[in-house]
Amino acid sequence: MKLLYSLLAATLLVTQVHARPAADPLAPAGRWEGDTSGAASTPPMGWNSWNAFRTEVDEDKVMGAAKVLVDSGLAKLGYHYVILDDGWWIKRRAGDGRLQIRTGIFPSAATGGPDGTSFKPFTTRLHAMGLKAGLYTDVGRNACSQAHDLHSPNLPQGTTAEREVGLEGHVGQDIDLYFKQWGFDYLKVDACGLADFVPGSDVVKQQAYRAQAPLIERASINRTDSAAVRGRYEAVAAALQAARPDNDYVLSICAWGMANVRAWGKDVGNLWRTSADITPSWTSMLHNFDSAAKRALYAGPGHWNDPDILHIGHGAFDAAHPVEVRSHFSLWAMINAPLLVSYDLRNGPASLLDVLGNPDVVALNQDRGGHQGVVTYDSDDAQIIVKTLGDGGRKAVALFNRGAAPAEVTLLASHMKLSGSAPVTLRNLWSKESVKFTGEKAFTLAPHETLVFEATGKRQLENGVYLSEIPGAINVARDGVRQPQADPTVHRMIDPWASTRSGGARPQYAGWGGAQADVTPYGQTLQVAGQAFESGIGILSGSRIQVKNGAGHAQLLASVGVDDSTSNMQQPVRFSVYGDGRLLAESPALAYGSKAHRLKANIRGYQIIELVVRGSKSGDALPVVATWGDAQLLRAAGDRF
Ligand code: GLA
Repeated sequence: MKLLYSLLAATLLVTQVHARPAADPLAPAGRWEGDTSGAASTPPMGWNSWNAFRTEVDEDKVMGAAKVLVDSGLAKLGYHYVILDDGWWIKRRAGDGRLQIRTGIFPSAATGGPDGTSFKPFTTRLHAMGLKAGLYTDVGRNACSQAHDLHSPNLPQGTTAEREVGLEGHVGQDIDLYFKQWGFDYLKVDACGLADFVPGSDVVKQQAYRAQAPLIERASINRTDSAAVRGRYEAVAAALQAARPDNDYVLSICAWGMANVRAWGKDVGNLWRTSADITPSWTSMLHNFDSAAKRALYAGPGHWNDPDILHIGHGAFDAAHPVEVRSHFSLWAMINAPLLVSYDLRNGPASLLDVLGNPDVVALNQDRGGHQGVVTYDSDDAQIIVKTLGDGGRKAVALFNRGAAPAEVTLLASHMKLSGSAPVTLRNLWSKESVKFTGEKAFTLAPHETLVFEATGKRQLENGVYLSEIPGAINVARDGVRQPQADPTVHRMIDPWASTRSGGARPQYAGWGGAQADVTPYGQTLQVAGQAFESGIGILSGSRIQVKNGAGHAQLLASVGVDDSTSNMQQPVRFSVYGDGRLLAESPALAYGSKAHRLKANIRGYQIIELVVRGSKSGDALPVVATWGDAQLLRAAGDRF
């Protein structure tokens, strides 16, 4: 085996030597590189069986949920996907490798034909109800329940090979089966097979699984082979494209924020989990929310940060906790998270259906612009999140009290990039009451309360839009992060799996240093040589972002420079603006301490604007923190400088 590896390595080396030098990743592409495959122009909505039933799912339970979606009107609001999570399979048939369904819990799958079992009758029923069907699998050989739910009555059975129900070695065959033969529309692809079947581990020995050296080591990004994990998911994406050339599918990557997926998920799937599994506790909700909330620039139409399915209906989010239920739902809506309900809908109280069915909150999540809310005021106690709606004329704003005591929160018009001297109207999307204010307004939030408003007022930029207002129109092609680092800003809950038996809750999700709206990659105020900017893009050198000039703007303006917070104070950087691949404007080399340089580019008629920051050296030097201060697109050429 070792020999085989060395041979392979040698071949790779030779190919590399002869290969043409890799294209310059900072060279403008001149075309939109954001992934456009799949059917997720807005965040997927629906129901998932996992938080409701874990592996103890069955056909009646799922069809019961589907019926409630339709009867309650939720389906009409957009809750379309009915997703069957782990627990459905019994084995991979010896001989032809065809997956077999556990007909004891899915009786309609017992077709009696030569194929053994089929989900076709099940998906046909869902489709006839106007719904879409989703299924769960794993990108490795084995699924999560096979490592973590050993008490389950519904684990795969048979020989070691028969219990290898995951995609590994069967990508084409399984995708073909699920999408072409069974008619599914959505696939959730878990990753335990790449993480939890470690040679010599108890689970491998006791359950007689085939061991696999882990590609994902949950505790160490350096020991995780992110490129290999990405490659596995790319193979799934390619198979889906082949199976559904009409693009009518959704690929949900479930790698729990590991393997740097928060950076590349957007290029491979339609949604990607940004964290571990949610549990029905307040701090778990905070943890999962935080894992996605600062990643606004990485999401947009077709690809969404996924802080996990909702836990509404259970524990801290059951009907006895209406404040927490509304908060959980409002927060997921504000950050364009998928809205996947996951409790037993057949037996849930009407009050929960009313929350899920709030058309105004659903509409802000499903807004076609796809602009994820940006955290515009940030603290551990309270946050203000602002989301641009439509073409930028309206905003949604959420005031979120994270703590267990009442919080005083003053909302400024400027938080929403609205003028402080004109009246602002706020319409509360829960109570439907409206209030007006000019400049600022104080609120007292109950413990755990989230207020959500639609806001209208006079925009600060009447003739255009700040780039940080339109994250859905931005694709971060390169963020300049050279070595993935764990994000320390995610709420450090007492991990429900490890409790306090470890040394503490360690930062675990790579992505720290990624591009951010209105703050530096490390969450500081944007500032160049003492000049602070409330708006702008914070990014590292060695970066390239793409902006869709959908509204036909005429000019790009930005005050650019090395941010005062940079650790690398030696290296100068240069800022360039391209339109459809052509250089339109460029700064001189700018060093730490140089005043912000005013960059102006005529972008009229160009579709794709690209903003590049190059350092003069690479190698061992740290990237430079670069600021596109007040970066904005204007409809008519103006000169505010
Ligand atoms: C993992 C996933 C969950 C669920 C289970 C199924 O834990 O993160 O969402 O799919 O596996 O076993």
